[in-house]
Amino acid sequence: MKLITSVPEMQRSAEALRREGRRLGVVPTMGFLHKGHLSLIRIAAQHSDVVIVTAYVNPAQFGPNEDFSKYPRDPGRDRSLAEEGGAAILFTPETSEMYPPGYLTHVEVDTITSLLEGKARPGHFRGVTTVVAKLFAITKPHVAVFGQKDAQQAAVVKKMARDLNFDLEIIVGPTVREPDGLAMSSRNVYLSAEQRAESTVLYRSLQLAEGLIAKGGRDCPAILAEMQKLFKLHPSASVEYISIADSVTLEELKTLTPGAAVLVSMAVRIGGVRLIDNVVVQVPLSS
Ligand code: PAJ
Repeated sequence: MKLITSVPEMQRSAEALRREGRRLGVVPTMGFLHKGHLSLIRIAAQHSDVVIVTAYVNPAQFGPNEDFSKYPRDPGRDRSLAEEGGAAILFTPETSEMYPPGYLTHVEVDTITSLLEGKARPGHFRGVTTVVAKLFAITKPHVAVFGQKDAQQAAVVKKMARDLNFDLEIIVGPTVREPDGLAMSSRNVYLSAEQRAESTVLYRSLQLAEGLIAKGGRDCPAILAEMQKLFKLHPSASVEYISIADSVTLEELKTLTPGAAVLVSMAVRIGGVRLIDNVVVQVPLSS
């Protein structure tokens, strides 16, 4: 595996590979790799000849009071995991090159970025779309793989790629979970043993919603109330939002339409740790 830190070197390598007729796949990450990231590398390998993993903790997507400075980092471990996972190139740029002094340009997707995560984290998606657009321009991929774990991010990046005519395919890989259901995340290392045990309530509440919808539940406020009841049993978990929304427009729903695909998503704080999770549920045609 080749380790690249320089932007022009990454662009030259990508261009050379493209000229050889290779199909390039990119998996953008913020490093501290886990099995969720590795599953995306595998998907990328199925759809390309050369997998480029990017590992860059992007300051532009963190709010002033968020965890940028304490975001977990382990470059040595990332190197071995990316290599074992099948990456051909690991690109780890420096902020001095990504956002040099005098940097002025940002990419912003309207409307869908002001809901859910965008409402809770103003400016977050502007930072994400800016860095992802830059990473696309630097790594020149034919295909890019993102995770369903960050459902809104995947939807926003797809919209950006479509609206700005990026000539690449975007694939969304399923959420990889711990055996007890907790979605894998670099931030899970922040959890104490007690908080880790409590954290299973997120996925349990999503399964509860799935079960209610499967059994004919169509009233969103009623489903949300049942989920909140489960959270009440876990006072250490504080719900920032729970939403049942159209999986494409991300607009909150009052009632579910048979046949629709709905995104049930949430952000929950356990102690000081902010966790997000979601499932997409297909509403049965008849109940
Ligand atoms: P990061 O949180 O490191 O996630 C990198 C990619 O891995 C994202 O596409 C995310 O959705 C996916 N991912 C995370 N946990 C996952 C899991 N349990 N199962 C499957 N996929 C999972 O998301 C970012 O970084 C950044 O915002 C980035 C897109 C790199 C821009 O800076």
